[in-house]
Amino acid sequence: MVTTVLLAVFVAAILAAVVYRHFLPLLRNPGAPGAASAGPSSNEERLFQCSYPGPIRGILGGSSLLVVTGERHRRIRGMALAFVASTGLRPAYLADVDRAARAVVASWRGRCAVAFCDEARQFAFGAIVEQVVGLSPEAPLIRRLLEHYSTFMKGLVSLPLNIPGTPYARAVEARRKISLTLEEIMDERWKGDGSSFRKPAFLDVLIADSELSHDDKVTFVLDTLLAGYETTSVLLSMLVYFVGQSAQCLEQLKVEHESIRSSKGTDEFLTAEDYRKMEYTQRVINETLRCGNIVKFVHRKALKDVKYKGYVIPAGWKVLPILGSVHLDPALYKNPQEFDPCRWEGLDQTSSGKKFAPFGGGLRLCPGSELGKVEAAFFLHHLVLQYGWRLDGEYVPMAHPYVEFSKGLPIEIWCHQQSDTAPWFVGQQL
Ligand code: HEM
Repeated sequence: MVTTVLLAVFVAAILAAVVYRHFLPLLRNPGAPGAASAGPSSNEERLFQCSYPGPIRGILGGSSLLVVTGERHRRIRGMALAFVASTGLRPAYLADVDRAARAVVASWRGRCAVAFCDEARQFAFGAIVEQVVGLSPEAPLIRRLLEHYSTFMKGLVSLPLNIPGTPYARAVEARRKISLTLEEIMDERWKGDGSSFRKPAFLDVLIADSELSHDDKVTFVLDTLLAGYETTSVLLSMLVYFVGQSAQCLEQLKVEHESIRSSKGTDEFLTAEDYRKMEYTQRVINETLRCGNIVKFVHRKALKDVKYKGYVIPAGWKVLPILGSVHLDPALYKNPQEFDPCRWEGLDQTSSGKKFAPFGGGLRLCPGSELGKVEAAFFLHHLVLQYGWRLDGEYVPMAHPYVEFSKGLPIEIWCHQQSDTAPWFVGQQL
């Protein structure tokens, strides 16, 4: 007991010293957050370099995209871009996303409440996993993988104590289990004998790549699944949270999606053309990204002494560019605290720029931004057409530092359709 307390005090003292050394001068200084948010996107690898904390690196692995720099980063990022290009807005990908959204929404039949964060995770994970490893979201392995990912996420930002029972140790163990499962999937795919693995998937491209090591490939899949589902599911939860508080916004969404659906059969999948018609939806998504600030900040370190607005950030210091600082700046947005999708009318809706950077920028700009937005738009389509919802209580999102909703965002739901027959064709294959 005494040893544990001494150990805890010792670790806390070290952490306090590290925080003081690396972060406090910047946080204490009102000019610093501005200096931090302005630079790295365009100065990556010149003045600043990606530098996630040791424990995150320890869990993600040495070849994670968030860890590698320089030429290695360019090489692995190239794979991520190739993955996104392989899905793009292609009909097969869009149909998979559509089917995954229908399946989750249809599973609510007969229920009057759901914890939305879990539903959003299940949808977003199913959508990305199908593209990367070629497994259908209903495959039993997927549930298992998703559970490991949840444990993994909880330990990603935790005290780096690798002692059995701590969140950190559980995350390390979860990563080991994810790696083993992914290896199993890759082996089956390699042999070509798994009946559930016949669908083309990006894994085939990875397996055929002779330059990447086996560990690089497993880490790449792990990274893409993590980056591809966690943020998208938070975006969806934020959408439900903000739209759930604005009857007018919900009504406008319904009008848009009813109009799109009225030109199609109920069982017809959404297409890229339909997505382009979702103009108001895209404004709602942008406004949610602006107000929700899903990724609050990214981690960098100064490569050399950097002068900024009369301050010097010494070489080696940590810098945390706060992506959301511009999003809530009254000089850039009128009534920035107000959720108002109409502010995007006639504006540039691209997600990278000095005023709007929910997906980061520069050499590290999120390659999956469009995938995340399409997935959110398609899910909204089925949600608003079939259900009304009410936020159950005052569960505001919290930053821990990643966004979380206490109690997993419970919502009351009611179905607009009177008929008992499922309106959508769950599990239908193209
Ligand atoms: C709403 C959804 C999403 C948000 C808000 C988001 C946000 C971000 C941000 C801010 C970064 C930059 C990190 C940094 O600079 O250190 C990033 C990187 C990344 N994102 Fe996303 N992301 C989303 C969806 C996705 C999806 C669907 C994918 C799937 C392919 C994805 C894959 C990646 C990857 C691979 C990186 C690392 C890029 C690099 O280091 O070169 N993201 N994301």
